[in-house]
Amino acid sequence: MAAIVLEGDCLQHMATLEARGYQFALTFLDPPFNQGKEYAYFEDDLPDEQYWAWLADVCRAVYQMSVEGSAVYLMHCEKNAEWVLRTLRETGWTLQNLIIWMKRTSAVPNGWRFGKQYQIIAFATKGRKPRVFHRLRIDAPLRPEYKQPREDGVFVTDIWDDIRELTSGYFAGEEALRDGRGKRFHKQQSPIALLTRIILSSTQLGDWILDPFAGTGTTAVAAEQLHRHSVSIELDPRNVACLRWRLEAHRETDSVAPLKHYYRFTPNLDAIWGGADTDSSRSVGQFSLFEEGKPYGRV
Ligand SMILES: C[S@@+](CC[C@H](N)C(=O)[O-])C[C@H]1O[C@@H](n2cnc3c(N)ncnc32)[C@H](O)[C@@H]1O
Repeated sequence: MAAIVLEGDCLQHMATLEARGYQFALTFLDPPFNQGKEYAYFEDDLPDEQYWAWLADVCRAVYQMSVEGSAVYLMHCEKNAEWVLRTLRETGWTLQNLIIWMKRTSAVPNGWRFGKQYQIIAFATKGRKPRVFHRLRIDAPLRPEYKQPREDGVFVTDIWDDIRELTSGYFAGEEALRDGRGKRFHKQQSPIALLTRIILSSTQLGDWILDPFAGTGTTAVAAEQLHRHSVSIELDPRNVACLRWRLEAHRETDSVAPLKHYYRFTPNLDAIWGGADTDSSRSVGQFSLFEEGKPYGRV
């Protein structure tokens, strides 16, 4: 599978990709949220109009490189739902779902509004209908009000409350990349389980996937294991180094294999998933692989 990694600004790289004729089936957009977070290479505190005009340019560029029926998943904070929906509509996309990704850890208390407990992921397509949509079935835990166990799982809905976020601190667990002192390498690292669901839902084997804000490369790492091609674009050279390293490291905690059982009630799962059930070649242990921002070797 091709896993192309490009360092630099996504708008610039997308212009080149388009000129070269690249076409994508799925794009995952997890941009900086413009909420004053610390990014070495990005001003995360722009006036609203300026930020959303920029994100509209990104959505437009993605649209140009998407085949009919392609999907975009745009993740953002719930507070910006109105901006997200407007930006997608005005750049040509058709909304399919506003997915609520429920967070497990408690919300940060707020004096004048309810604490936020979820993030939004807008799923939209180029044109009215998706080119691919696999209705995944999961082995969701039984709620107390349901007396009978389910024998064949349930379809995934637009509320995703079964994918744990990688929070700050030790709760983030072993999947979170850390520096030599155990500090999170990238606080916005997405869970492999999130990208696995998105990729399985909206692509077929061999499709091309784009991530213009690739960060630590979660999309590419999941795509490769699920037999899809990917192009990752990332501005910060430290993240690019991490991403390249991560693609080669084959960490056990990045494996999609343990998730397959959870989706076992999905019709034709093998054809959607591709490849073997288990991946015994992945590495174990040792996750403090970054010394003050510098990757220092492989597992
Ligand atoms: C929210 S993070 C993405 C995290 C990613 N989903 C992961 O799993 O690691 C956003 C990323 O976009 C990058 N970024 C910001 N502006 C960019 C731009 N103009 N072009 C490419 N990447 C950019 C940031 O450096 C940051 O790593």
